[in-house]
Amino acid sequence: MSLLAAAGRIVDRIKINTITRHVRDGKAVWTKRRRSAALAVVPIANGFFRLAGNPVTILDEVSAWHEWEIASMRALHGGEFSAWSGEQGVLHIDELPGKSISAHLDADTATAAMFAAAAREFRRAHTIECEWFEGGWSHGDPHSGNVIFDATEGRARLLDFEVRHDAALCADARHVDDLLVFLQDTLGRLPQERWVRFASAFVHSYDRPEVTVRLLDRLTTPRGVARIWWAVRTTYLAPREVASRLRALREALAT
Ligand SMILES: Nc1ncnc2c1ncn2[C@@H]1O[C@H](COP(=O)(O)OP(=O)(O)O)[C@@H](O)[C@H]1O
Ligand SMILES: [Mg+2]
Repeated sequence: MSLLAAAGRIVDRIKINTITRHVRDGKAVWTKRRRSAALAVVPIANGFFRLAGNPVTILDEVSAWHEWEIASMRALHGGEFSAWSGEQGVLHIDELPGKSISAHLDADTATAAMFAAAAREFRRAHTIECEWFEGGWSHGDPHSGNVIFDATEGRARLLDFEVRHDAALCADARHVDDLLVFLQDTLGRLPQERWVRFASAFVHSYDRPEVTVRLLDRLTTPRGVARIWWAVRTTYLAPREVASRLRALREALAT
């Protein structure tokens, strides 16, 4: 394995936070705190992202990270769920109801309806004006573990706002990138036929042709260092298999 591939693997594996769930006055709240290892890992990860052409930054400074989580919770879930800073760098976040799509993939209970609900939420979130970007908000790291599906309401919600897109990117490019992250993460975790069906439901439910037309261009494995990040993001599925699935999705979307 090359040194860069090893770096990609490390960046993906090392947990930078400690997360715990508490129930206070009958209300569930999650607390999140940076582990001391994050101090060393975050700059390495950000350096790797620059090399791999991944247009995001992990917010390194605790105050900047908290600010972005709180602002994003307010923008996306304001009035319903919020986040606030506690003592010693702890962030508290109201519990979002449901279970992550990643957990559903692991339990083999994921459905096309969940993928469609995720896409509707991506679309809604992307149309929220964001001061920082001076344009539509974007997530930066919306893999399926950061998408919580609420079966009661049949809707999805996003969480985990500590990675931010580079502001130099235009809104459409950031939005395409978000769609791609979700597709990359799910690509290797379902049988091909089912993934293509669920992924098509995802793209159709997102329903912004001006964005999805750009997505088609990105549904191919890149060359160079960016390829290593693709391997990480597609859970090390054999490159030939990745290419075959992307081709199948492009064909499904073209019809
Ligand atoms: N507010 C919350 N509501 C529901 N689940 C949560 C909440 N916060 C964290 N979790 C659970 O913990 C997992 C990890 O939290 P996350 O904020 O994504 O941290 P990390 O940066 O480590 O990925 C999530 O995938 C989710 O399952
Ligand atoms: Mg997460």
